[in-house]
Amino acid sequence: MMEKEWNDEEWQELANQLSEPQGDAGIKTGEMMASSNENMIFRTIDLLGLSVDEEVLEIGHGSASHLNALMRKASGLEYTGIDISLTMIEEAKRINSALIDAGSVSFHLSDGLHIDFSDNQFDKIFTVNTLYFWKDPKAYAQEIYRVLKPGGSFCLAIATKDFMEKLPFTKWVFQLYNRSMAEELLSSAGFSIQSVAEEKDIAISRTGEQVERDIIIVTAGK
Ligand SMILES: C[S@@+](CC[C@H](N)C(=O)[O-])C[C@H]1O[C@@H](n2cnc3c(N)ncnc32)[C@H](O)[C@@H]1O
Repeated sequence: MMEKEWNDEEWQELANQLSEPQGDAGIKTGEMMASSNENMIFRTIDLLGLSVDEEVLEIGHGSASHLNALMRKASGLEYTGIDISLTMIEEAKRINSALIDAGSVSFHLSDGLHIDFSDNQFDKIFTVNTLYFWKDPKAYAQEIYRVLKPGGSFCLAIATKDFMEKLPFTKWVFQLYNRSMAEELLSSAGFSIQSVAEEKDIAISRTGEQVERDIIIVTAGK
């Protein structure tokens, strides 16, 4: 059966849901993101290089369907997730209830401007596909820097501006970045850029097809 063509209103609604999933449509968006972005999320987790007893912060985890795999990367990991979407916080809690009960995982609703944790708290911080939606990117990069331990590292993963601007929904809500813009944002917050992986990623489109996309994963240190 042919997929129905979407109009601008429907694409804009998709952009809104991707930036902050809400309600039943938000739950579906969370499921779609988890499968579509799985490779990119696991690649970012690999580059984080998690080791024993580290405290990890993820910003914008969505439904957080990747946590069982993340927690197996090393023993004694403590994971904290923050997200601006109450729907995603509830989904993440439902999907990861066993890990929460075990005491190693927690999720917290965030205002997207402040990170309500202490200075120098986390060994590793990562975020996948959220930079497009940061409300005050410079101040938020400084917040991430503040809560990262000296010697810790931060992995920032995005699909590139050149790729994203061809999509039918990124003219709303999204702020797109190329490699130099992302590096400049992190450098200006005090981070030292350690590496930038420029890769081809296979995502799954809304209609279930495989789509090759260009991604970058910046690893930055404090
Ligand atoms: C496009 S989804 C990506 C979800 C998941 N990381 C992935 O790659 O599939 C963006 C997620 O980040 C959240 N988000 C957007 N801006 C945020 C911010 N400033 N702080 C925390 N979460 C944010 C949204 O609510 C949503 O769950």
